[in-house]
Amino acid sequence: MAIRETWATRIGFILAAVGSAVGLGNIWRFPFLTAESGGAAFLVAYLFLVAVIGLPVMLVEFVIGRESKQNVVDAFPEIGAPTWKFIGAIGALAGFVILSYYSVVGGWVIQYMVGSLTGGYAGNAEAFFGSAAEGTNALAYDLLFMAIVAAIVSFGVRDGLERAAKVMIPSVVGLLVLLAAYGATLSGASEGYAYYLSPDLSTLVGDAIALLPDAAGQAFFTLSLGMGVMITYASYLGEDRNMLRDSLLIVVVDTSIAILAGLAVFPFLFAQGVDPGTGGVGTTFVGLASAFGSLPAGQVVGFVFFAMLFLAALTSAFSILEVIVSFTIDTFDVDRKPATVAIAAVIFLVGVPTAMSLDYLTLYDAIANRILLIGGGLLLAIFGGWFYASGAREELQKGMPGGETLTTAWIWILRIPVVLVLAYVLYTGIIEVAGIV
Ligand code: PFF
Ligand code: NA
Repeated sequence: MAIRETWATRIGFILAAVGSAVGLGNIWRFPFLTAESGGAAFLVAYLFLVAVIGLPVMLVEFVIGRESKQNVVDAFPEIGAPTWKFIGAIGALAGFVILSYYSVVGGWVIQYMVGSLTGGYAGNAEAFFGSAAEGTNALAYDLLFMAIVAAIVSFGVRDGLERAAKVMIPSVVGLLVLLAAYGATLSGASEGYAYYLSPDLSTLVGDAIALLPDAAGQAFFTLSLGMGVMITYASYLGEDRNMLRDSLLIVVVDTSIAILAGLAVFPFLFAQGVDPGTGGVGTTFVGLASAFGSLPAGQVVGFVFFAMLFLAALTSAFSILEVIVSFTIDTFDVDRKPATVAIAAVIFLVGVPTAMSLDYLTLYDAIANRILLIGGGLLLAIFGGWFYASGAREELQKGMPGGETLTTAWIWILRIPVVLVLAYVLYTGIIEVAGIV
């Protein structure tokens, strides 16, 4: 069996976990989903779920990973729960589905980098999206994106995963702040903010409950939860880290970047009179492209922005591939490079329909976020809260002396609210996907 690497620096784990979390989920998926779901009520549901459901599930993944020091599948037998191995299998399956279309959107980002330089989308935002998003362009750039991800993953944890996040996060934040500031000067800004940030209080509770399923899918997707990324990353982690503090940091950074992305996108949508409810998966790209098309020095700023988004997408994409590769290397005792290339090729093939048609992209997205990640999260919560509670408590308390009350609260949050909410969300997800298919 291959020797297990550990993070080269103490901060390597945080960087990689933040790198996995921050990605297209924040900057592409969050704004379009919020726009399409009616704005502020969605934001409220999302923030609630991130804190009350996402954070506790992230801690379950951390505990399992650090204690077992194994990949997603072998983690369970290692901590005395062999029957729960199938959680890892669902996680790997989710990884195949998600990366297969995530790489398509990654390919869009590359096309927008090129389009920034050539001026291809300036004054032309809708048509550019149309030709980039589905068909042969989408497929070719999907392949390019997958090839880059596979190249990075084949270099391994130390060289590949730790580096990119260091530059990427501060740059993404800086550019989003710049865009948000520019957006604030536009005539559509106040309308955009009202839609995004001021919920209708008289209907808020009902609206937020109706939006729970979509918001839960987004919470899991954006935090990279429910498929074992955080199990895999924590498996390379030392005993002395306070994992509660780490998870809070990851959640706060990820959430802040999503909110900031909304602040950058909404004013532009309203300035152009785009109806936020109708754009679907293209909303964010169309909104951003028209922003850059009108911004002074927009070609340069646009290029830098999409280059950073590309890096953000890469660090997320290779976290997904790493879960599957890590498991494959350990299970079949094969070398990292051939394993990575073979798996990436299969993922690319699985994703071909999503590059050819946005309807498939939407379908895969629903299967992943409404069923697979939520199902994985539900099983993790049942496992961590009910079957493995004392082991989980003990593991979380390492590096967190005196945290008894907090760990007790954590276990009870997992046992009842997390399990109930995720069971409900899974049920609605199955109905929804059955309706699409
Ligand atoms: N969290 C990533 C994003 O917000 O873009 C996407 C993602 C990565 C989802 C890893 C799931 C995952 F396992
Ligand atoms: Na994210």
